[in-house]
Amino acid sequence: MSQEEPTRPLIIVSNRGPAQFERGEDGQRVLNRGGGGLVTALSGLVANRDALWIASTMTDEDAAVTRENDFQPLDIEINDVSYKVLMVESEKEAFDGFYNVIANPILWFIQHYLWDLSNAPDIRQAELDAWDYGYQTVNQDIADAVIRQVEDRERPLVMLHDYHLYTAPHMIRAARPDALLYHFVHIPWSQPDSWRVLPGRIRETIFDGLLANDIIGFHTSAYCTNFLACCKRLMGYEIDYEGLSVEHPGGRTIVRAYPLPIDSERLIRAAESAEVATAEKEVLARRREHLILRVDRADLSKNVLRGFTAFDTFLTQHPEFRERVTFIAHLQPSRQDVPEYAEYLERIEALVAVVNHSHGTTDWMPIDLRVYENFNEAVARYKHFDLLMVNSIFDGMNLVAKEAPAINLRDGVLMLSENTGSHEELEDYVLTVNPFDIQEQAETIHRALTMTPRERRERADGLREVIFSRNPRDWIDEQVADINLVRAQLADEAGG
Ligand code: G6P
Repeated sequence: MSQEEPTRPLIIVSNRGPAQFERGEDGQRVLNRGGGGLVTALSGLVANRDALWIASTMTDEDAAVTRENDFQPLDIEINDVSYKVLMVESEKEAFDGFYNVIANPILWFIQHYLWDLSNAPDIRQAELDAWDYGYQTVNQDIADAVIRQVEDRERPLVMLHDYHLYTAPHMIRAARPDALLYHFVHIPWSQPDSWRVLPGRIRETIFDGLLANDIIGFHTSAYCTNFLACCKRLMGYEIDYEGLSVEHPGGRTIVRAYPLPIDSERLIRAAESAEVATAEKEVLARRREHLILRVDRADLSKNVLRGFTAFDTFLTQHPEFRERVTFIAHLQPSRQDVPEYAEYLERIEALVAVVNHSHGTTDWMPIDLRVYENFNEAVARYKHFDLLMVNSIFDGMNLVAKEAPAINLRDGVLMLSENTGSHEELEDYVLTVNPFDIQEQAETIHRALTMTPRERRERADGLREVIFSRNPRDWIDEQVADINLVRAQLADEAGG
């Protein structure tokens, strides 16, 4: 690494860990990689490094393994990366309130502007209890585990992640004033008024929880600015917009943007694997003249319904494309215990049936919906799309927008929502869309499918150049550089 190493071992903390234990169909215990952008990002951080990853148990098998291992860290290996993981089990009811009532949907919905405010959310006693005895309890369980692990270390460095753990930093700080606390938020930071759906005491606990960190990282500068505006408007704290810092009763916190790159080397290796070659055969056998693709978690923020409506509009307005184009939507099931998510998936399935019924023919199904998690199939599809649709309502970064063009073989075009974090970096080479403007998305499909090979090549080259210009190591180096700066300042202050 080019920067000085942080104290070893590094403590990483997130709700979802790198892998979950499950029982396979044959009853055997299996280890599956965790989904989502956070796990992808952090796998690079722990590779070749003495790191301890503290995470919640996500399955009954995780809890069983943890008990069998006497609640000690355990070594696991997945996709050729070794991890030391300590899984923390919270009481079932507490975890349910934490995950299914507060983190998803309430915090996720606030930060992606998903609430339909005339109808929801309702903050009743159940939600208040889920905060007090769910979110706070799980944060305390995780904080206690961190405190135990750093007991015999001076000035330990703890890196926390995401919206599940906003209050844990304050709990850790209370026990360890000397710790260096760093928090990376993987989702958008929304504007001040969006937080007003929360009762004041909850809002204040969130901000004071987060501000116990020395540094808070976001994907984009826009999220940093929003966060600072919240600290000013909702908490009345003093802001330095140039130095990107907040003065608060607990001290000073700096905020920084560290846009997350993808691990292209790993992705290229996967793209060349035998498993992907097998999956590619099916893609090639079924493809028509044009292939439109989307790959997402089945999440409301991804805007799947408007994407299908845009495709429906396109087929109506351009009947000459019938039977010449297929839209593969590969969706990974997500958070199905949250009613909004289960209902969203049902609406997706219903809309696909309607579009396929109104345009399909005996041997052509316009939308090919695949609802499952399968990394190799996703990679095979990345290689062969003509148009990748990323039309998220709001999205912290969206790594699919970087992964798919990195290995696509057809100079595929990227349709990208202006409300994704990746748009800040990729905008010169994409077809930008407003996620609510269905007509614009329909026209963009037409524009992409009729684009000259030369323009496709120029845009695809531009995308690849930006995507390959940084790797996860750079992302980590940038953070470590700032951590070392803060550490030096703290040492000065302690000395003086
Ligand atoms: C996003 C979030 C992560 C989360 C992931 C998967 O990437 O930023 O924190 O882990 O989605 O969501 P899940 O609820 O399955 O952990």
